[in-house]
Amino acid sequence: MNYLITGGAGFLGRHLANKLVEAGHNVRVIDDLSAGEKDALDSRVLFTRGDVRDQPKLWTLLHDIDVVYHLAAKVSLPQSVLYPREYNDVNVGGTVALMEAMRALGTPRIVLASSGTIYGDQKRQPVDEQVPPDLRTPYAVSKLASEHYIFTLGQHYGIEAVALRIFNAYGPGQSLPPAYPPVVPQFLNRIMLGGSVVVFGDGKQTRDYVYVEDVVDALIAAGERPDLNGEVINIGTGVETSVNTLIQLMEDVTGRQAHVLYNHEQSGGVRRLVADIEKATRLLGYRPQWSLSEGLRETIRLDPRFRELVAARSHG
Ligand SMILES: NC(=O)c1ccc[n+]([C@@H]2O[C@H](COP(=O)([O-])OP(=O)(O)OC[C@H]3O[C@@H](n4cnc5c(N)ncnc54)[C@H](O)[C@@H]3O)[C@@H](O)[C@H]2O)c1
Repeated sequence: MNYLITGGAGFLGRHLANKLVEAGHNVRVIDDLSAGEKDALDSRVLFTRGDVRDQPKLWTLLHDIDVVYHLAAKVSLPQSVLYPREYNDVNVGGTVALMEAMRALGTPRIVLASSGTIYGDQKRQPVDEQVPPDLRTPYAVSKLASEHYIFTLGQHYGIEAVALRIFNAYGPGQSLPPAYPPVVPQFLNRIMLGGSVVVFGDGKQTRDYVYVEDVVDALIAAGERPDLNGEVINIGTGVETSVNTLIQLMEDVTGRQAHVLYNHEQSGGVRRLVADIEKATRLLGYRPQWSLSEGLRETIRLDPRFRELVAARSHG
C-alpha cells in the first residue's frame, strides 16, 4: 500500500511511518518541521519538507496514494487560546486544503488524528462517541471542525473518511518544547533530573494515558479495515489515572522521589476524562497492550533523552 502522512515527522507520525515501512509499505511524509524532527524517520520513508496547505506540493505527493493519515497540526491547548487564528489556519485550513487536493487526485481514503479533548468536562465517564462535545479551546474547535470537513467534503468528493479521537498519547520521542510541554515527558524529565513538578489543582484530575504503540496499531487498523466511512472512534485505554497516581507510577519506574508543588487550578480545567473504547474494539479490533507503568518503562528505555539520564545517574 502507498501512504501519505501529513505531520509525519512529529511524535505520532514518526512512529506510524516507521512501523508502516517496516511492514513493507511505501510511505511519504510531508511536514514543515515546525515541531517535527526528520532524523528519527526510517531512511525508507520519503520525506518532503512543506506546509500541508501547499496544494501543488500535495498534488505531487498524493499521486497513487491509497490512504492519507492527516496528523499535521498545531497541538498545544493553551497556546491555541493565545493564537486562535494560527490554529484555525493550520488545523482547519490544512484539512480543507488537503481534502481539495485529494479530490483532484482521486485519493480514496483519509484517517484524521482528532482528539479526546473535544469532550471537555463530562459528568459521566468514560465518554463514548455519542456524547455531545464540550469545546473549551480553539484547538478543540479546530479538531471538531476538521472532523466535520472530512465527513462533509468526503461525501461530496467520494472520499472515505475516518476520525480517531486520540486521548493522552505518550511514548519515546514525544517533543518537550519549553512552552507548554506535554505532561508525561515533562514530569519524567523533572523527576529524573531531581527537580520539582508543578501540579495545577489537587492532582486528582484524571486522564486516559495511551502508549504510542497502541495508537499506531489503531491508526493502521483505521487505514486498512473496510466499512469505516463516517466513523468517529475513541482511542484511549479505558483506564482513568489521576495526576497524583501518574507521579507515583513515575516514582516507581524511575526509583526517584518527586518533589511536587501544588499550584492554583487553571481555569477551564477538566476534572475527569477517560475513553470508552468499546467502539474501537468492535470496529478496529483494538485492544490496548500497554499498561501505563509498562509504557513509562518502555519510554525511558527507548528515548535517548531519558536513557542518558539513567546512564548519568548510574555513573554518578
Ligand atoms: N499526542 C497526543 O496525545 C494527541 C492526542 C490527540 C490528537 N493528537 C493529534 O495527532 C496529531 C499528531 O500529534 P503529535 O503528538 O505527534 O504532535 P507533533 O507536534 O509532534 O506532530 C505534529 C506535526 O505536524 C507538523 N506541522 C505543524 N504544522 C504544519 C503545517 N502547517 N504543515 C505541515 N506540517 C505541520 C509539525 O512539524 C509536527 O511534526 C496532531 O494532529 C494532534 O492534534 C495527538
